[in-house]
Amino acid sequence: MSPLAALLAQRIRDSGPIPVEEFMAQALGHPQYGYYRTRDPLGAAGDFITAPEISQMFGELIGLWCAVVWQSLGEPRRILLAEAGPGRGTLMADALRAAAQLPAFRAAIEPHLLETSPALRACQARRLSDAAPVWHQDLDSLPADAPLLFIANEFFDALPIRQFVRRGGGWRERRVALNGEAFAFADGPAASPEAPPAAEGEIFEHSPAAAAFAARLGRRLAAQGGAALIIDYGHGETAVGETLQAVRRHAYAPVLEAPGEADLTAHVDFAALAAAAAPAQALPLATQGRFLRRLGIELRAERLARARPEQADSIQRACQRLIDAAEMGTLFKVLALTSPSLPLPPGFAPDDA
Ligand SMILES: C[S@@+](CC[C@H](N)C(=O)[O-])C[C@H]1O[C@@H](n2cnc3c(N)ncnc32)[C@H](O)[C@@H]1O
Repeated sequence: MSPLAALLAQRIRDSGPIPVEEFMAQALGHPQYGYYRTRDPLGAAGDFITAPEISQMFGELIGLWCAVVWQSLGEPRRILLAEAGPGRGTLMADALRAAAQLPAFRAAIEPHLLETSPALRACQARRLSDAAPVWHQDLDSLPADAPLLFIANEFFDALPIRQFVRRGGGWRERRVALNGEAFAFADGPAASPEAPPAAEGEIFEHSPAAAAFAARLGRRLAAQGGAALIIDYGHGETAVGETLQAVRRHAYAPVLEAPGEADLTAHVDFAALAAAAAPAQALPLATQGRFLRRLGIELRAERLARARPEQADSIQRACQRLIDAAEMGTLFKVLALTSPSLPLPPGFAPDDA
């Protein structure tokens, strides 16, 4: 048993089953043994790979997207470029390099990183030493005196969820109990989530942490001006279904098996984020494939391949991996939130819904 599993098991023996939300929060964020507190989980030697790690094109196109939004804001002299859960700092490094195509934009950018993991903060510091970013534990300490460009790739899926199970015409909150030495799901007390209709035994998931974060982000965008790009896997409409999953060494693992040793994520409910972010305006959701195609990823891949012929195959493969419907293109979605009067930014169409 891992040290965190032993701690959680003792807690359950002492005080009874704990909500799934608490199990997930501890598994990812326990100050000593939480998954993100102890390691860099990205890349071939880790547990999973993300879009910025697949290709530099991802961060570059996001950097250029930010440049267009900066122009529509009237080219302010200062702008915050904030990223939540920046991993190894790769997306930010690629975005800043692309931003340098417009020197006045690059000069206006103040980079800010929201990161709770000491291990990943160290990676980001190495990667972004020239950019002098400012780190934050949370959104609240970001400055409020300049417009905000906010990016989050695979951040919201790591925020803890509550799970509810349909029983006898009502809902019960799901908990984690002990069955001998092993963790097991158990029905908890009656609850009344705002859930769509569901059949007996179905699961409904909701992330209060994600909704609260989106609400604070939405208020900031409305007050400071700016836009946010939230990229993640998930669904466009609030729906029933169990999506909590564990990934370890690039393979699915049992969700409750090894808290602190596997990545735990849940699909993002984009409808819930968009609703929570009012008064910011939420644009119709785009798939990652459509968004990147509209930003010209295929042209960028061709140019890169011409400049580096020895890498042409791997550049094209990376491009397909990001946009192909059978890979990340459809499962991953992009939600843009903007301050109310901002014109439609690139990558989105009013009729995508
Ligand atoms: C799946 S990784 C994604 C990393 C990066 N965005 C990428 O695409 O490669 C999740 C990131 O969110 C961070 N994170 C997780 N929970 C967090 C929280 N509550 N507050 C801030 N950062 C968090 C992790 O440390 C990590 O940097």
